[in-house]
Amino acid sequence: VVPDGFSRLGRVETISFARGVPSPDCLPVDELADCARAALDRDGRTILSYGSSAGYQPLRDWVAERHGVDARRVVLTNGSLQGLGFLAGQLLGAGRRRVLVEAPTYDRPLKILAALGADIAGIPLDDEGLDVGALERELDAGPPPAFLYTIPTFQNPSGLTLSGDRRRRLAEVARDRSLLVVEDDPYGLVRFEGESPPSVFELAGGASVVYTSSFSKTIAPGLRVGYLILPPELADAVEAVAVSTYITPGLLSQATIWEFLRRGGLARNLERVRSLLRERRDAMLEALDEHMPDEARWSRPEGGYFVWLDLPASVSASDLLQRAAEAGVTFVRGADFYPSRGGESSARLAFSFVAPPAIREGVSRLGRLLVRSGSPARVLPA
Ligand SMILES: Cc1ncc(COP(=O)(O)O)c(C=O)c1O
Repeated sequence: VVPDGFSRLGRVETISFARGVPSPDCLPVDELADCARAALDRDGRTILSYGSSAGYQPLRDWVAERHGVDARRVVLTNGSLQGLGFLAGQLLGAGRRRVLVEAPTYDRPLKILAALGADIAGIPLDDEGLDVGALERELDAGPPPAFLYTIPTFQNPSGLTLSGDRRRRLAEVARDRSLLVVEDDPYGLVRFEGESPPSVFELAGGASVVYTSSFSKTIAPGLRVGYLILPPELADAVEAVAVSTYITPGLLSQATIWEFLRRGGLARNLERVRSLLRERRDAMLEALDEHMPDEARWSRPEGGYFVWLDLPASVSASDLLQRAAEAGVTFVRGADFYPSRGGESSARLAFSFVAPPAIREGVSRLGRLLVRSGSPARVLPA
């Protein structure tokens, strides 16, 4: 028997809490192979050619119906991150340079925004998600922003979810102050327990809020299919960027997803993904209870991929990461998710990729690197 986290040769294997990707067990490989074949048989002459820059029409119609909007407002992109990049380019091109984000927030949009020359301001989070009072103060403090980028459900990286009351307040603030909200929601359906709150998009009646989501967490990221729901004039502008970037997005992927949806695959796959990930979330929370020092705090998400760990302020997450990599466990430093300073003693732990026994072993390795007796807590020297 090979102990968890060790290879057959007895070497320590690196356990990655850094990768926000699904476990290979979440991917419906055989069913997607059938769907790709069926899509080609039925519609090969269309999907193997160039087509609409906004994507495969049956899938646009499916998304439009699901969200109760006109299909002309739906733009399908090669993953939702690409859609976000297109949209940000358009919004920042219109003269406004200021963008508000959650602090912490998903690191890739931060890089896209920085490359576009945005002036990025972070709004703090608390247990109920984005601090809407702080948002209002930030709105008062500077010129009108191009938009607010928010991930209200099972946020990447914190795992936090915006409460129902805050969602209503955010929808009101967006309306009353002409603030464009970009709501990124790839994890909303990956819920293991509890009630789903309405999206900010729904609460705002579809006005002042742009919505984006993806099939990456619900079906498979390798297919690269995401979407934006936009006001008609922005949809036209984003489509124009899509044409000049790739002419047409990957239609075979989109038709494969549509076939999968048509067969009722989404509900089946969600059941599988939710049960696999719930087990991993539970393993991580139990291991944190067991192995972390008393002063550490962490989020307890009801879904998604991530737990956010706040270590005692005396612990540098950079030092811990260096020692952890030597001990065979990795994570992403909290500071990487902030537009400026913050998160120096925090870590994002992804529970999506690693199986429960390796999660327990990985957290135990982290715990062993922290001096628990005496205070303040610190990283064990090499
Ligand atoms: C909040 C958030 N938005 C967008 C994405 C990117 O998704 P896609 O694979 O659709 O580009 C991710 C992926 O991790 C994410 O966490």
